[in-house]
Amino acid sequence: MTSVGIDAIEMRTGKLRLDLPETFAPAQGDDPGKYTKGLGLTASSFPDVYEDIVTMGANAAHDLMERKGLEPEDIGRIDVATESAFDNSKPVSTYIAGCLEQVYDGDFHHANKGERKFACISGTQSLDDAYNWIRAGRNRGRSALVIATDTALYARDDPGEATQGAGAVALLVSEDPDVVELSTEQGYGSADETDFLKPQQQFPSVDGKRSVQVYLARMREAVKDFESVAGKIHPDDAALIPFHTPFPGMVRKAAALAFRHVSRDTEIEEELAPEIGRQPRREAFDSEEAFREAAADYTDDLTDTDAYREWYAETVEPTLTISREVGNWYTGSVHVARLSGLKAAHEDGIDMTGEKLLVGSYGSGAQAEIHAETVQPGWADEIEALDVDEQLAARYELTFEEYEDVHDVHNHDEDAGAADVDQFTAPESEFVFDGWGRMG
Ligand code: HMG
Repeated sequence: MTSVGIDAIEMRTGKLRLDLPETFAPAQGDDPGKYTKGLGLTASSFPDVYEDIVTMGANAAHDLMERKGLEPEDIGRIDVATESAFDNSKPVSTYIAGCLEQVYDGDFHHANKGERKFACISGTQSLDDAYNWIRAGRNRGRSALVIATDTALYARDDPGEATQGAGAVALLVSEDPDVVELSTEQGYGSADETDFLKPQQQFPSVDGKRSVQVYLARMREAVKDFESVAGKIHPDDAALIPFHTPFPGMVRKAAALAFRHVSRDTEIEEELAPEIGRQPRREAFDSEEAFREAAADYTDDLTDTDAYREWYAETVEPTLTISREVGNWYTGSVHVARLSGLKAAHEDGIDMTGEKLLVGSYGSGAQAEIHAETVQPGWADEIEALDVDEQLAARYELTFEEYEDVHDVHNHDEDAGAADVDQFTAPESEFVFDGWGRMG
């Protein structure tokens, strides 16, 4: 069997930028440090009034097809992952295919199309589906297009408002991929949870503090399940660990627990013992509460060590750079983290070929997945071809009043009012939302 994985990546950010310390914090009466230091965010990407999940997804897919010289007949499958869908029957992939058919001679009538839903993890589930389709030999030499697209908006004054974001990631999944090969090594942690959900409503109902704990619990389960197939993880195993990143502060918490787990019973624990002692063992404690307290204290000490700081700086920090500037893209978030890590490595002149990535995906509701990927020789050319910095720099800087107007425009609630939609100019060479039609 030939290798299967991600052959190319493209992203499209929402065209507006909301600065958190300069614009959002003062309007909320908050210390900017809550956003920059606590959550780890400097800005969010916000959708302009003519953008939605279809336009962002179609523009990302079109960029990818143009760059790779693809025609519709080269694509046998289009899977869209989103939790911002506006149609309970017709999948977003059909809307996106319809956009693309306006600018290509061929059509996608032969392509299997679908829509995946499981909060943020559905982006990775769609990637898994595409991988399985090719590995099963049903692709007839064709590639799959996986598009993760979301407008991750919260109700005004919800604690999640600062973590908003909007953007799409398009992944081309093929045989003999240029970016990463996916491995069969995979682990899950999944349970029925109700800390973040949108039952027939646009904006989520969120128990934010609990959602953080659920993320950590499911991720812990996924790591154990992964180790049951791949063997114990060692901190040196992965060159990068892209996590689902609702905000970088969440990843900081996940990384600390991950390092505690993977350094247990290794030479790292041995070397650190004179400095911070050994990891608490559950069997040595009378109660679960006492064990948890000791484990939390140990984790605090561990994150102060050079060993942890170096590991974090090399394997986790590079994956957060784009996220700090764009916020949560829900289904696209973990794929932005992978892209961010590879981009940083490329800028630092690090050769990642053959290196392993451990990808930690998560979706509320809740499920975590850990899987392994191996970086392929074509990765640097693919990363070099992207215009991430240009897209981020070209965003229109919102005032707080403009932000309030645009948030109202995207609010499906009829009573929310409407902004002056003419205040921003839609580009002519892109897919834009113009009411009931879309133009190329
Ligand atoms: P909050 O309660 O307003 O914030 O919102 P906080 O008071 O907890 O402060 C946040 C952090 O900033 C804290 O750090 C503070 O100490 C710190 P921590 O203690 O957690 O390390 N802080 C400061 N630091 C420096 N200087 C200051 C300062 N002030 C405070 N001046 C909350 C936080 C996460 C609840 C909120 O953002 C929220 O509800 N977010 C939405 C839910 C979410 O993102 N959950 C994450 C896990 S669930 C997930 O990832 C799935 C998701 O993507 C959806 C899906 O799967 O579809 C969301």
